[in-house]
Parts: sequence; C-alpha cells; structure tokens
Amino acid sequence: MCGIVGYIGPREAMGVVVSGLQRLEYRGYDSAGIAVYDAAAGLQLRRSVGKLQGLVTRLQQEPASGQLGIGHTRWATHGDVTEQNAHPHRDASGAIVVIQNGIVENYLELKTRLINLGIPFVSQTDTEVIAHLVGLYYAEEGALEPALRRALAELRGGNAIVALCAHEPERIVAARLGNAGGVVIGIGQDESFVASDVPAILDHTRDLIFLEDRELAVITREGATITTLAGERVQRAPVTIPWDPIAAARGDFTHFMEKEIHEQPRALMDALRGRIDQERGLVHLEDLRLDDAALRKLDRIYATACGTAWHAGLVAKFMIEQLARVRVEVDYASEFRYRDPVLGADALLMAFTQSGETVDTLAAMEEARAQGVPSIAIVNAIGSQAARVADGGPLYLHAGPEIGVASTKAFTSMLMVAYLFALRLAQARGTLSPSQIGTHLQALVELPSKAARLIEQAAPRCRDLAERYHRVGDALFLGRQVNYPIALEGALKLKEISYIHAEGYPAGEMKHGPIALIDEEMPVICIAPRDPIYPKMISNVEQVRARRGQVIAIGHEGDELLAAKAHHVITVPATLPLLQPVLNVIPLQLFAYYVALRRGCDVDQPRNLAKSVTVE
Ligand code: AGP
Repeated sequence: MCGIVGYIGPREAMGVVVSGLQRLEYRGYDSAGIAVYDAAAGLQLRRSVGKLQGLVTRLQQEPASGQLGIGHTRWATHGDVTEQNAHPHRDASGAIVVIQNGIVENYLELKTRLINLGIPFVSQTDTEVIAHLVGLYYAEEGALEPALRRALAELRGGNAIVALCAHEPERIVAARLGNAGGVVIGIGQDESFVASDVPAILDHTRDLIFLEDRELAVITREGATITTLAGERVQRAPVTIPWDPIAAARGDFTHFMEKEIHEQPRALMDALRGRIDQERGLVHLEDLRLDDAALRKLDRIYATACGTAWHAGLVAKFMIEQLARVRVEVDYASEFRYRDPVLGADALLMAFTQSGETVDTLAAMEEARAQGVPSIAIVNAIGSQAARVADGGPLYLHAGPEIGVASTKAFTSMLMVAYLFALRLAQARGTLSPSQIGTHLQALVELPSKAARLIEQAAPRCRDLAERYHRVGDALFLGRQVNYPIALEGALKLKEISYIHAEGYPAGEMKHGPIALIDEEMPVICIAPRDPIYPKMISNVEQVRARRGQVIAIGHEGDELLAAKAHHVITVPATLPLLQPVLNVIPLQLFAYYVALRRGCDVDQPRNLAKSVTVE
C-alpha cells in the first residue's frame, strides 16, 4: 500500500513530509514524490523512481521551500514504475496536486470522458484521473473543497486522497472512500499533519483524528473541519493514542485476528499492486522466474501446503484448471513428502505458505527439487525460507504481518495471488485473450471494496449468530466445487479458536454419512452462491431442514429462495464464480471469531497451536 504524508504549519514542509514518508517505508514503494508550495517559488514538484533515498537525493540537489506540502511513496497498482507515474499528480492547470492510496475501479471510463473533453494525460495512473476531475470542477466551483467533493462522488473503489491548491495555500483537503486506505490527521500547536498511517505523525503529535468512510477534511494550521461527502458537519474530537506499541499495532481492535479480518480489503488491494495492466489486459508477476515458454511447456502442477494454506491450494486447482486448462494435483505437504511421489517432467510445485517456514511445506519443496521439479512459493513472509528456496520465484502476498494464529488475510490474499497466477498462465498459453483477462482484472479490482462492504454488513450478523450458537458441541460446513474448500476453511477456523468440533464436507457427500449427525441442535453452514451448482446446494439445504437441522446459509443479497429455506442467511456481494470464495470465507472468519470471543477463548493464541509449525 502507498504512503501519504501532508503538513501545514510554521516549519519547512519538505523535512516534515520526507521524515514522515521514511516512517512509512515498511509499506513498500517503487517511487516517491513531494509537492511543496511557497508564495515566492510557487508549487514545486519533485519525484523519483526507486527507493525513498532517490527523492532525498533529488531534494538535496533541488530543495523545495515552503510551509505547505504533501508527499507520497507509491507502490504501483496501475501503470509502470516511472517518474511520470509517481505521485503527486497535477491537474491540467498545474495549480492542483493530488496523492492517493487505493484503486479507482472506474478510472478507465472517467479517463475516456476526460480525454474526450480535450484534457491531456501524461501518466498511466488512476490517480491522474482524480487530479483532472478535481481540476475540471475547480474551474466551475472556484474552490478546492467543493471541487474534490464533486470528484469523489464519481469515483468507485476504496481510496484515501489528499490534495492541495496553489490558489489556496492555507489548507490541505483530504478524503476517505471505503476501507482500503486510512486517513489520519494530527493536531499540533499551530500546525497540522495528515497521513495514511499513524507512525508518520507520532514524532510531532499524539492527538489524532481518524477519518471514517465517505468523509472529507479541510486541514489548516489551526486544526481540521470534517464533513460527510454529503456535506453534513461531523464533530470528532482528537484521540490521544497510547504509547504501548502492541496496543498501537492492534489499533482499535480487541484482537489481532479481528484487525486482520478488517485489513483484508487493503491486503486484497496490495496483492494486486504492480501486477495488473487493465488497459492492455495483462498480468505482470515480476517475481516469477518462469517465462512464457516455461509456462507453456507445463504439463501439470502440484499444489502443496498445510492447514488453511492447503485450502487455498484446493481453490487454486479450480482457478488454474478452469482458466489456464493445466492439470493440478493438491496434496497435504505432510503426505506429499513421504509418499515418494511420481512427479514426471514439465511439472511445477506450487507451495502455499503464510510463514514460509512450515517444515512439511519446506520438505515438500525439497522433494520436488530432488526430482528436478521447480517450485514457486505463494508466501507472505518476505525473505522466509520458502521464498528463498523457490527456484521459480516467490509470489508474495504483501498482506503485511499476520499475528493471529488463525490465518485470515493471508488466506484471502493467497486466493488473489493464485488467481493472478492462473491468469498469467492463461496469458502465456493463450487460453484467455487480453480482453477476457481484462474482464477478470476488473472483477479483481472490485473485490477490495466488496470485501469492505461485506465486513461492515456481516460483522453484526455474525456476532448475533455467535450469541445464538456459541454453546453447540458440533457444527457442519457444506459447500460444493470451488466452495467446498471454503467449507473446510470455515470448519477449521471454528475448531481452532473456539474448540468446537466442526467438519467441512462436500455437500454432495452429505447423504453418504454426515447426514446422520444432523439434529435440531447442530448448526449446518451451507455456502450457496448463485453459481451453476446452486440448485444442488438448495436441495442439500432442504435435506438438512427435513431433518430439523439449523441452516445458516451464505448467499447473495436478494436470494429470496435461499432466504425462504434457511433459518439464517448471511449475504455476500456477487463476483465471478472462481473469485466468490474470497468473499464467502469472510462471514465464516467473523462467525468463528465471535463464537470464540463469546466462549472466552484466547482468540489470538488458541491452546496447543502455534503461528508457524516449524517442527514435525
Ligand atoms: C490456519 O488458521 C492455521 N494457523 C494453520 O492451519 C496454518 O494455515 C498452517 O499451519 C500453515 O501455515 P503456513 O501458511 O505458515 O505454512
């Protein structure tokens, strides 16, 4: 995710902004830039590609003076890593500069409209679209705040946006859309700050104001005025955050697992960063060391992992076989490593691992290497053992540290990266055209905001269901096809943090045994999106009801048939069938979390478990 820092006050903005960006370097970046305003020198823009040091060097050569400034470290979502694509971006008049963290899902249609109005573009980014839209409305409104407000009304997707205007040097304007990127405002003595994350401001003040979704702030040296996008005034006093680093890391959340569930919109976006080109319908996996020829030669893939990561491998099988038509076998790593597998030529091992240190998964990678089969690692921990030994390259999740033992954001990010890999394979093998890939990329780009909306709506529902079902002794999770692994994952989440015995089953298998378990006590969670197999899931729901089972269904908004048949429905937004698991799993994560909470379990460090199983 990108880093954002802004300053207005009596000090030189350049130093404050750059030191703030240095505090955010952990967020990753491939370019950086700053805009500083001074009455004499006007609006000065400095940008550079590569590490933040590049910008520091540039500023040593060409300092930017002034007491108003905004800066940005970019991690590309749209467009190559070039100085032209680095933020800040200017509007056509050159008086307005904008920096952004997030994804404008509808930037292509907005860009087309602006180009047709004769507005010249100099970059490939979605951010430049925002700058020109604000500039267009500034010409009509004559002020930055209403111009930004009008532009925001046209944007789709989760975004954090900060802007300033050379004609209004007494203010910075900031806004937050969705949950994909934060905006925090620091209130100092005769100076104010704005940033995408707390560490950039802590050196100057601990009195912070957090913008909520669909809010806009006008920030001056005296403080901040907050309104909703509709223009209603919001009264929000600054909070003074604690010194405790753990509490600061956990933020407003009670547990890391809760925080990591809520971080998923941002993590999903970061899994896409720098890897998609919607205009050309291409996927770039820069860390993948297998070229098109190697990808075309592939005859089969062995997906291997443990626990939740193994469930990701099961989902990846559907994605790769249906999008790229390459055969995939899925194995538990602890089984794969001992079964003396016959791997054959033109094979690839695909290891899924959050920690990159799971002993069985590493052993499976070793087994493949011993047979001359290359491996790739779908991995979160940067520089971990799996990342280092994967000769086909690590495909990093970029989900950020996952502290809760129960894996959540790493799982959904694994699904995103697996989908990108399937598209990359399809691209190399020609099983999908660039325009078909473009359609898939659009669905990927829309997922973070769908996930954000889902978390907001599903959390209270799941808390209520946890209140009702937290005393049960057993639970059954049912799903079909690409949602069968989600049934397994939902069961694992519940059992590992609440200690309730839970099983995941392919719904078609119910009549071959588990149906004997069903009674009026046991909740049966049925994953029933409107996909081609939906009618079969509906009949499974009816079979459960016929035996007085308690049905909790995961289904789409407005599915009256399902609502009529299930006792409870948690609705999820619709997306492409192979991406639906990314959303379907989220209510199951929340349900498990609230049940464990209600049972007084240690959610972040459940008994007997470790975050990474580095010994057999
Ligand atoms: C999942 O919630 C568990 N923490 C566990 O199953 C985990 O997925 C498994 O141990 C694999 O860990 P890894 O992804 O770090 O390899």
